[in-house]
Amino acid sequence: MTTPLIEARDIRVTFDIRRASDLPWTEPPKLRAVNGVSFKLEQGKTLGIVGESGCGKSTLARALIRMLPAEGEVLWEGKTDLLTLSPRQMLKYRSDIQMIFQDPLASLDPRMTVGEIIAEPLRTHRPKMGRAARKEKVREMMEKVGLLPNQINRYPHEFSGGQCQRIGIARALVVEPKLLICDEPVSALDVSIQAQVIALLEDLRRDLGLTIIFIAHDLSVVRHVCDEVMVLYLGQMMEAGATEKLFTEPQHPYTQALLSAVPIPDPEVERNKTLIALEGDLPSPLNPPSGCPLRTRCPRASEICASKPPTEEVAGRQVFCHHPGPAAEVQAVLAES
Ligand SMILES: Nc1ncnc2c1ncn2[C@@H]1O[C@H](COP(=O)(O)OP(=O)(O)OP(=O)(O)O)[C@@H](O)[C@H]1O
Ligand code: SF4
Ligand SMILES: [Mg+2]
Repeated sequence: MTTPLIEARDIRVTFDIRRASDLPWTEPPKLRAVNGVSFKLEQGKTLGIVGESGCGKSTLARALIRMLPAEGEVLWEGKTDLLTLSPRQMLKYRSDIQMIFQDPLASLDPRMTVGEIIAEPLRTHRPKMGRAARKEKVREMMEKVGLLPNQINRYPHEFSGGQCQRIGIARALVVEPKLLICDEPVSALDVSIQAQVIALLEDLRRDLGLTIIFIAHDLSVVRHVCDEVMVLYLGQMMEAGATEKLFTEPQHPYTQALLSAVPIPDPEVERNKTLIALEGDLPSPLNPPSGCPLRTRCPRASEICASKPPTEEVAGRQVFCHHPGPAAEVQAVLAES
């Protein structure tokens, strides 16, 4: 088996939530935003991360690149644990892992020209590169992402949302990273522009052999773009595996509920899917249910769900559930028991 480009082992991120009313000497409440997530991603593959708002997608992404303190291990090319590196040692890997964000305009410095914005990572990571070579590289990148090189002296506010995202992509790719983390890269864009940006990312992935972590709400985009998918709920991995299998035969009640909630463009899948609805609202992440975090909303929950489920391989993927299986079958068995 090939060594994964990146392997996350048991990643945990906890925030201290101190409210104004808390006394300074008391222990602040803890919010476990990411609660023991693991995955492996091979070179050239795309991993989608999905789940409801607040489930920890962005926090996990930020933890991987040390934008947040985290516990666990992030093995890079099977050798280096990124979480143990000093900021100076980490600098070497920063150009290998780049990130693009949801709000393209907000993530670009309004005082810098497009040329300066795209050139900035080169100044940091390729300090020996001469001015002319840098400018040439920026122009080349602008062309690659569909921007006109004569726009190099313009400012971000002169561009549309879709164009700003192209600037963000050019800036991320100018240092030739191995891994690109896209945190909801198209959700702030109009639908027609979304398709263009997705197509651009796909072209770049193919041409540059990029490995991508793709965070999104839109399941049809994830299905189209990703080789593998990981479903998160309250900071915990619920189900993870090959995209097509996960979409056509989800084994976890939460995945089944997510897929029930959106029409799937494949008529075969849409016809055969069993509708699953979750009960109630998302619990507070400050006080999640013990055992399985889904148990207060899960139509399949039983007594055993008060204990933490194992993560097991079911139908060729990882499932975190006491009663995994296709919706119709498991519900029929549970109804009889
Ligand atoms: N800096 C922070 N301090 C305290 N809590 C935080 C912080 N950042 C995130 N959280 C909390 O951590 C949890 C996970 O947040 P996160 O932003 O990772 O979710 P998400 O899945 O990316 O959501 P969305 O889909 O809305 O972007 C949420 O409950 C959020 O309120
Ligand atoms: S462990 Fe129980 S509550 Fe959790 S998803 Fe599985 S069936 Fe539902
Ligand atoms: Mg987010």
